[in-house]
Amino acid sequence: MIKIIFVCLGNICRSPIAESTFKNIVDSRNLGSFFEIESAGTAGYHIGENPDRRAIQVLMNHNIETKHLGNKLDKNDLEYYDHIVVMDESNFEFVHDFYHKTFKKPPSANKLFLIRDHDPEVKGVHSVPDPYYDTIKEFEEVYQMLFRSNEKLLDHLIDIHNIEITED
Ligand code: 4NP
Repeated sequence: MIKIIFVCLGNICRSPIAESTFKNIVDSRNLGSFFEIESAGTAGYHIGENPDRRAIQVLMNHNIETKHLGNKLDKNDLEYYDHIVVMDESNFEFVHDFYHKTFKKPPSANKLFLIRDHDPEVKGVHSVPDPYYDTIKEFEEVYQMLFRSNEKLLDHLIDIHNIEITED
């Protein structure tokens, strides 16, 4: 089982979209049995809450459902998940520091990375911008970035974990 957690600040906008989009792509390729997929925030502002209504709306527009409830990244998650996939440099710095303080060593590049490292259209800035103070238009742009990145991320994970694709 490949365990992956998507992480942003509040866990109500970007990372729930990333989690649901990745699950949808995994399911569409019949690979659900290979993955455990979760999301969390570096902050605990929205523990137990539904995703932001604009995140739910954008996912619905793409026929994707989310049942996620807000969750905060904890120490056990640092060890448990094979891949911690963050949205921006601030999330990266937070998780890197948290990991270093917990294990007295830095995380590997395979353990902690930015989602847009896998975006084929990335130019310059490798972050998914926080859409919290923006409109549905920026949420849709976030969805598009995450969809593109997640397709390539899944290809990468299939490759490094030697997942055998069988046609049925
Ligand atoms: P997210 O967006 O990190 O993409 O979930 C945010 C959601 C809430 C807050 C900040 C960012 N907040 O400050 O409450």
